[in-house]
Amino acid sequence: MKIPLNDGWAFSPAFTDEQVSPAFDDSGFERVRLPHTAVETPFNCFDESVYQMVMTYRRHIVLDDVYPRQAVRLTFEGAAHAAEVYLDGEKVGEHFGGYTAFTVDLTGRVFPGKDHLIAVKLDSRESLNIPPFGHVIDYMTYGGLYREVFLDITRPVYIEDSYIRTDRILDEKKRLRIDGRLGGAGSATGVRNAEHSIRITLMDTDGTEIAAPGTISCSGESFSAEFEISGVELWSPDHPRLYVLRAELENGESLETRFAFREIAVRSDGFFLNGERMKLRGLNRHQSYPFVGYAMPASVQRLDADILKYELGLNAVRTSHYPQSRHFIDRCDEIGLLVFTEIPGWQHIGNEVWKEHAIRHVEEMILQYRNHPSIFLWGVRINESPDDHDFYSRTNALARRLDPDRPTGGVRCIKGSELLEDVYTYNDFSHTGDNAGIEKKNRITTRRDAPYLVSEYNGHMFPTKVFDDETHRLNHALRHARVLNDLYREPDVLGGFGWCMFDYNTHKDFGSGDRVCYHGVLDMFRNPKLAAAVYASQRDDAPVLEISSSMDVGEYPGSVRGEIVAFTNADEVRLYKNGRFIKSFSRTKSRWDSLPRAPIVIDDFLGDQLDDEPDLPRLARRVLKKLLLLIARYGPAHLPARALALGGVLIFRYGMSRAEITGYYTRYIGDWGQAATVYRFDAVTRGQVVASCEKRAMRSVQLDLRVDHTMLCESSTYDVATVRIRALSDAGNLLPYCMEPVILETDGPIELIGPSTLTLRGGMTGTYVRSCGTAGAGMLRVILPGREIREIHFDISIGEAPS
Ligand code: GAL
Repeated sequence: MKIPLNDGWAFSPAFTDEQVSPAFDDSGFERVRLPHTAVETPFNCFDESVYQMVMTYRRHIVLDDVYPRQAVRLTFEGAAHAAEVYLDGEKVGEHFGGYTAFTVDLTGRVFPGKDHLIAVKLDSRESLNIPPFGHVIDYMTYGGLYREVFLDITRPVYIEDSYIRTDRILDEKKRLRIDGRLGGAGSATGVRNAEHSIRITLMDTDGTEIAAPGTISCSGESFSAEFEISGVELWSPDHPRLYVLRAELENGESLETRFAFREIAVRSDGFFLNGERMKLRGLNRHQSYPFVGYAMPASVQRLDADILKYELGLNAVRTSHYPQSRHFIDRCDEIGLLVFTEIPGWQHIGNEVWKEHAIRHVEEMILQYRNHPSIFLWGVRINESPDDHDFYSRTNALARRLDPDRPTGGVRCIKGSELLEDVYTYNDFSHTGDNAGIEKKNRITTRRDAPYLVSEYNGHMFPTKVFDDETHRLNHALRHARVLNDLYREPDVLGGFGWCMFDYNTHKDFGSGDRVCYHGVLDMFRNPKLAAAVYASQRDDAPVLEISSSMDVGEYPGSVRGEIVAFTNADEVRLYKNGRFIKSFSRTKSRWDSLPRAPIVIDDFLGDQLDDEPDLPRLARRVLKKLLLLIARYGPAHLPARALALGGVLIFRYGMSRAEITGYYTRYIGDWGQAATVYRFDAVTRGQVVASCEKRAMRSVQLDLRVDHTMLCESSTYDVATVRIRALSDAGNLLPYCMEPVILETDGPIELIGPSTLTLRGGMTGTYVRSCGTAGAGMLRVILPGREIREIHFDISIGEAPS
C-alpha cells in the first residue's frame, strides 16, 4: 500500500534540536503541503541567500492498518539538500543531495493507532560539502521538501526493485530479462534464507494482461530470469509504446514496473534507435519555475515535456544538471522524448567526501531511473569539470555495472579531454553569429572512433530578453538556426542540446544583474521567444509560421528594416502587400541548407509593384527596383557602390531627380503616409495555404490566455494550472513593448502562486493557479487595466483523499 504524505506538514524556516521532539509545540509553524519551497521568491532581483537555511518540517502519522511485522518505508523524492529524518525524536535516516530520492526504513518502529511524529531537519545552505556546491553555480539551488513524500506499507517480505532489460528487439521473439531484489524486515522474516516464488506478468499500461511468461523461484534476496516475448511493439518517439511488468511474490506483494522494448546504439556515425539513425534535436532543461523554485507538482512537470515535444518539436532533452522529477521523465516515456540525464554538479569537483556523495548520486540516479525507456544516456561527470581519471573511472564503472545497456557520457567544455565514457559530450560555444555553428569533431577530440554529441550551445553567448529589440531577437533565433543547421550537416555528430529551454534565476556571478540568465528560447513562464520558432518549425505535425518582424520600420535605426525571416515548416511563403501579391519565397539557395526546415529569407517587399508606374520605361523600372531593394536592405547612408551606379543610371539616363527616387522609396518601401500598410504572409505547402498571418498597425490590445488545464484534480497532492499571458494586437501579433500591469483576482477554492499584480515583460507574463484541498468551482480574473478583463473558470476535484 502506498500512502502519499504530502499534506499536513508544519514548517519552520529555522531549526533547533527540540523541534524534532514530539513534545515540541509546533502550533506557531506554518502549515504547508508538498511540493514545498523553503521560500517564495520574487520574479527576479533577489539574492541566492534567501533560500539558504536550516529548516524543520514536522508531520504526524497515525496508521490504523499497520500490523506488527509489516514493512514500513518512508520515501522522500526530493529534499534539498541535506536531510536528517527523525521518528518520534530519534534519528532514523539521513541523505545528502537534493536531486535524488531516498527511503528510510521505519519497519518495527510504527505501531497501529499510535501518533508518530516524523521530523526533518533540512539544510539548504550552499556551503554544504556535497554536489553541486563548493564553487560558483549558474542556477539557483533553492531548498525545501520540493518533491513528494510517501509511505509504503507491505508484508514483511516485498519486492524492492526490478530492473527490466530487453534484447533482440528487432526479432519477432524478443528477449526480456528481469533482475530483481527482495526487501524485507530483516533476516528474522526469512528474506535471505527462504525460498520464494515470483510470478511475472506482462501487461498493458491499463493493466490488461498480455502474457504470463512464467514464475521464478528464488532463494535469497535477488532473482533474475529471462523470457522470450512475441507480439509486442517497439517504443520510439513516433510510437512511444509502453508496457508494464508485474512481479508478484507468493505472499501477494507485487511491484509493477513500466518499461519498453527499444534499443539504443551510439556510434561514431550517429545515434540509432531500434536500428534507425536519428539526429538528436534537443534543449537543456532546468527544473525551476518563477516564485517557487523547484516546487511544482506532477501536472506542471509533465507540461514541460509536452512543451518540448509538441510546441518546440524536439525529440530529446538534457536534464541539466541533475536528475529531475519522475513526473517529467514519466511524461517523456509516454510521449517519446529522449532524455540525457546526469548527476548533480557544476564545474567543481570537491574533496574525497564530496566525491563519495557524487558516486552515491550515480548509484541513486541509475537505480531510480534505469527502467525509463526515454533515458538514453547517463551523464556521469560533473558538468564542465576538469578531467579526473580516478574519480571518473569509478563513476563510469559503476554506471556500467548498474546498467550495462545504456551508454555513459559526461559533459565537458575542454578539448582533448580523457574519454572514459562511451560518448564524448561537449559544450560547443564557438558560434559568435557570423562563423560556423559548431567546431568540427576532430578539433575537439582525437578519438575519431568515439560517438560525439554537442551537449550545449549558444546560451551565454547571446543572452536575449523578450523585450530586446527585433534585431536582437532575430539574431538570437538565427544563431540557433545556424548551430542546428551545422549539427545536421555533420554526419559524425549525434545531435545537440541548445542552451536552453527557458530563462532561469541564477547566482550573482551570472545573468544580467537581476539574477536571471536570459538564455532560454522561452521565457521563465514558458512563453516563446522568436528563437523557439527555429525549433517549432522543424515539426511536421502542424503548420508553423512565425515572421521575425512586426514590419514597423520605426523599430530600426534609420528606419532600415533590412531582410526579414519566416520560420515555417511550409514549402514557401507568399507575401502580399495591401492585398497585392508581391512575391513567393522558398528555400532555394538557403544559407541553412542542411536544416530540414530552414528559415525562409524575405528580402523583396516590392515585387512587380513598379509596373504601376507606366510612365517609367521598363529598364528604368528594373534599375529602380534594384536600387530600392538595396536602400531597403542597407539604408541610404550605407549603400554599396553598385547603388551609386544604379542611381547614376536613373539620374543621367532617365532624367530622374533624387527627390523622385526618394518619393518612390517612401511610397514602396518606407510605407509612410499610406492609409495603412497590411502585409500578409501565407505559408504554402503543396500549393495549399496552411497558415497565414497579417502584420499591420495595431489598433487595440487584447489578452491572449493559454491555460494548460482547467480541471484541477488533487490525487496525491495539490494540482497547479499554468496560465501563460500575452498582449496581442487586434491582428493577433505579440506586442513586445507592451509592459503594462496585469492584475489577477481569484474566487473559489484556488490560490495564486506568486503575486497578484504582474507586469508584462516583452508583452508576456504568466501565473500559476493552485488547488487548496477543496472541491468546487474556481475563477481567475485577468485584468489589463483600462483595456480588457477576462475570466478563466476552473473545476477542482479531489481524488484519493490525502491521508
Ligand atoms: C554552460 C553551463 C550551463 C550554463 C551555460 C550558459 O557552460 O554548463 O550551466 O551556464 O554555460 O551558456
